[in-house]
Amino acid sequence: MRKINVFDTSLRDGEQMPGIALTVKEKLEIARQLERLGVDIIEAGFPASSPGDFQAVKEIAETVKGSSITGLARAKKSDIDSAWEALKSSAEPRVHVFLATSPIHMEHKLKLTPDQVVERAVESVRYAAEKFPHVQFSAEDANRSEWPFLKRIIEAAIDAGASVINLPDTVGYRTPEEISKLFEFVTENVKNIDRAILSTHNHDDLGMGVANSLAAISAGAGQVECTINGIGERAGNAALEEIAVALQIRSDYYQAKTGLKLSELKRTSALVSRLTSMNVPGNKAVVGANAFAHESGIHQDGMLKNKETYEIITPELVGATSTLPLGKHSGRHAFKTKLNELGFSGSDEKLQTIFSAFKQLCDKKKEVTEDDLYALIADATDDQDSTAYELTALQVTYGMNHVPTATIRLKKQDDSEIEEAGTGSGSVEAIYNTLAKMTGGNYSLADYRIQSVNGGEDALAEVHVRIKADDFEQSGRGVAHDVLEASAKAYLHAVNRVIARKHYAKREMAKVES
Ligand code: KIV
Ligand code: ZN
Repeated sequence: MRKINVFDTSLRDGEQMPGIALTVKEKLEIARQLERLGVDIIEAGFPASSPGDFQAVKEIAETVKGSSITGLARAKKSDIDSAWEALKSSAEPRVHVFLATSPIHMEHKLKLTPDQVVERAVESVRYAAEKFPHVQFSAEDANRSEWPFLKRIIEAAIDAGASVINLPDTVGYRTPEEISKLFEFVTENVKNIDRAILSTHNHDDLGMGVANSLAAISAGAGQVECTINGIGERAGNAALEEIAVALQIRSDYYQAKTGLKLSELKRTSALVSRLTSMNVPGNKAVVGANAFAHESGIHQDGMLKNKETYEIITPELVGATSTLPLGKHSGRHAFKTKLNELGFSGSDEKLQTIFSAFKQLCDKKKEVTEDDLYALIADATDDQDSTAYELTALQVTYGMNHVPTATIRLKKQDDSEIEEAGTGSGSVEAIYNTLAKMTGGNYSLADYRIQSVNGGEDALAEVHVRIKADDFEQSGRGVAHDVLEASAKAYLHAVNRVIARKHYAKREMAKVES
């Protein structure tokens, strides 16, 4: 079996998805979970793109030692310098230099001739190799590039010191057969390819990201780049969990394996979904809520007789069994052990908040599940210093022939309280109009989604919102037993994150100016 290196780019390409804006702390939490999952390489961000990205990559490089950490850099010295400053303390410093090689990108975006592109690639890779023990070179839009030119630039990049060559399908244009042919061409024609690992990186514009990644692996790729839940630019990237499970279940066909701990997949998916506020559709392969649900009578009958009649993946394989040996009589110690198992590593104060919410939920809900615990953890693990406003009271009056009215009390960071009432054409609008008045921002609602954490009448409600603030969008989530309370919490969560982001940007600006 060939070992395939898994390169996760959820925190870089995934984070480029509209509406996702993770805090440094959230990125660190995801990176720790990726390490637990056994990802070989974590692309933690693009250090030169913003001070926030730089800081996140730096903290991840300083903290996560079980995976190799990398950062993206354009083919220019200042980007590579910035990546080095962020990554130099990592266990195995690695940089990912990219430069476009397709005619359309070279002519219209870079405005460079092919010769100039080769020159710049060589210069950058050589410069990066003076600092980093591992240099990856990506020929951006490789899949729409001319093959003889690709051969030339790959050979030059390897000679300059690249040990990984990535051939991305940047716009998700190719079919599996075409990707196979490209990888076979490169393997057979690039004369020094034995000195590098070939990597594949596929976008999902035509829904073929995972199939293309698997085809590339069959045709010789030794590294696969992907994201949790397939998050990423436009239609997203190839989904890590689908590639990993396909390689495992069809190892007879692919003759390749990863070093991943597959039982961490469901947990990783849930964490990324919560922190990014990107829902996992119920029918999503491997990690969707229905991936192991058998609805029709014929299927259920078959399953009872022999599970293999309708189940090629077991829920246990991906950690999707949600048994919770805890209830309202459980003690704090057992609760803490369970939370640690789920990846919680917060303070005792946070633990106490989640424990109290758990006890309250046990009084309201017949069966508390692991998914409920994930929701409670996510609800309670926000940065203390990014909580400008906290919801302390909410009352909504609604009648068919009355104007809905919300009365809300909020606690501010200095512990003072403010109270306000407002109206709207519906209950949620009344809440949001009131909160907008109280928090003083000029926000508009870009998206509002509601879902139950588990089925059943007593399920927890989870609300995801996206608000537009000036020139960017910010997501927020809220969990509560009541839909309106969850709605208010989600909006406040987004507002708090906008305020934290602005404070952070101001602080960084002040540092630069001084
Ligand atoms: O899709 C792409 O081409 C990329 C590169 C930066 C590798 O994300
Ligand atoms: Zn990409």
